[in-house]
Amino acid sequence: MVKAASHNGNEQPYINCKNIVKAYTVSDHEIVALRGIDFTMARGEMVAIVGPSGAGKSSLLNLLGGLDTPTAGRLVVDDLNLLDLKGRSLADYRLWHVGFVWQAVGRNLLSHRSALHNVTLPMTLAGVGWRQRRRRAKELLDAVGITDHAHKRPPQLSGGQQQRVAIAVALANHPALLLADEPTGALDHESAKHVMLLIAELRERYGLTILMVTHDMEMAAYADRTLTLRDGALGQDLSQNTQEAPPVLDDEGRIQLPVAVRSRLDEAARITVEIRPEGVLLRPEQGDEDNTQTVLQDMLPGANHNGKGRRRLRFWRDGRKEEVRS
Ligand SMILES: Nc1ncnc2c1ncn2[C@@H]1O[C@H](COP(=O)(O)OP(=O)(O)O)[C@@H](O)[C@H]1O
Ligand SMILES: [Mg+2]
Repeated sequence: MVKAASHNGNEQPYINCKNIVKAYTVSDHEIVALRGIDFTMARGEMVAIVGPSGAGKSSLLNLLGGLDTPTAGRLVVDDLNLLDLKGRSLADYRLWHVGFVWQAVGRNLLSHRSALHNVTLPMTLAGVGWRQRRRRAKELLDAVGITDHAHKRPPQLSGGQQQRVAIAVALANHPALLLADEPTGALDHESAKHVMLLIAELRERYGLTILMVTHDMEMAAYADRTLTLRDGALGQDLSQNTQEAPPVLDDEGRIQLPVAVRSRLDEAARITVEIRPEGVLLRPEQGDEDNTQTVLQDMLPGANHNGKGRRRLRFWRDGRKEEVRS
């Protein structure tokens, strides 16, 4: 399942982002959401983007999906220079080349239409014939495990089932690129895991290239690589296998935990931090037996590195920023 994370010199990257800048003008001032983003992706690669709220993650995805245009830079997907695409060719790119899955379930599906109808819709827009639409929609609903619910409307389905349908909708016109903006962000942990397993399976089956935004390092672990985005700039490219990635402490005191640790802390409503002589202890406040065993020593070797004795941890849970002071 692991694919090449980077490509050698001869092989053309599938996605090539060069010095991408995105500024929004709001009334009289400018918000710079992306400040010169450089990255490439190989065909068939799956990359996760993590980063705090407002970092520019959605802005980047929107640019890649042709939903918006960069203020500056170069953006090439599969030999198509997105900045050259206008009107019909841009519409075609969006219809045929990319599939989108959003976090907000309501943004993915028409709530008054059946799952089956929802999946046929992008094909109708693309001018695909009735017979073929129906065949493809059934095939996709089968692939995402919704065959038995094909005639239900979204409100009659669970959140996880709705995201499955949304994935089927995204793949309707055989896109090579799947863009997912926190696809599991609104789901409970179990459903989220199942949706990620489905995405991984579909990636294999259809040879998809996938760029996914997530707040959750456990979900990011399904990707080949994880990029961190902060204040519109790409930071550390976390290692191939997030499962074994070392914890990361950035210079603002934010910490990223390895998946194995993170999943043990996941159930807790709140985490307390104790600074001890031998290191730092992260402890779920009302965790079960298992969770309270969670000991992280020497996780913050630089906790005092700013010389001010600042002992503070900020982290993101379910899209919300939380802060802990010792
Ligand atoms: N359409 C828009 N108009 C103005 N500002 C925007 C717009 N979209 C995003 N922004 C701003 O750009 C920054 C990055 O936003 P966004 O890409 O949504 O970040 P993320 O998805 O990482 O939370 C934020 O400061 C946000 O307020
Ligand atoms: Mg966003």
